[in-house]
Amino acid sequence: MPAIALKTVLMFASALFLAGAKPLPAPDLEKGKKIYVATCQACHGEKGDGQTFVANVLNPPPRNFTSPAAKKELTLERMVRSVTRGRPGTAMMPWKDNLTAGEIRAAAAFIRREFMELRE
Ligand code: HEC
Repeated sequence: MPAIALKTVLMFASALFLAGAKPLPAPDLEKGKKIYVATCQACHGEKGDGQTFVANVLNPPPRNFTSPAAKKELTLERMVRSVTRGRPGTAMMPWKDNLTAGEIRAAAAFIRREFMELRE
């Protein structure tokens, strides 16, 4: 087959593939919410503002996700890293042995949508 025809075939094939390819799955916000309520809310609060009973005895206190500072500082990558590995010297423990990477990402995505009012 001449090289030019092969190239055309390949382009056609990849166009078909792209047309059929699904976009990256959206983060599972329902799953993220369940995880948040079950494992994070006790410290971070129903509204994500860190105003919880346990916050009284935590130093540093749990992060207030609704603050402008949090919105500025907390990238999705940083959040995933902090939840995965924890924040040494604080009550924020590493969750990597209790939650899958997908669950951690889902919880972070839920926090961003629900409390930080970010699109992603
Ligand atoms: C026992 C209380 C507690 C629980 C439970 C808890 N956190 Fe935290 N979290 C904290 C504290 C305290 C901090 C503040 C750490 C600091 O100032 O560095 C924090 C900080 C964070 C931060 C910001 C970290 C950063 O990089 O500044 C994120 C994101 C976070 N928590 C997410 C979660 C998620 C998601 C869960 C549930 C899977 C969770 N937390 C469960 C206490 C908790």
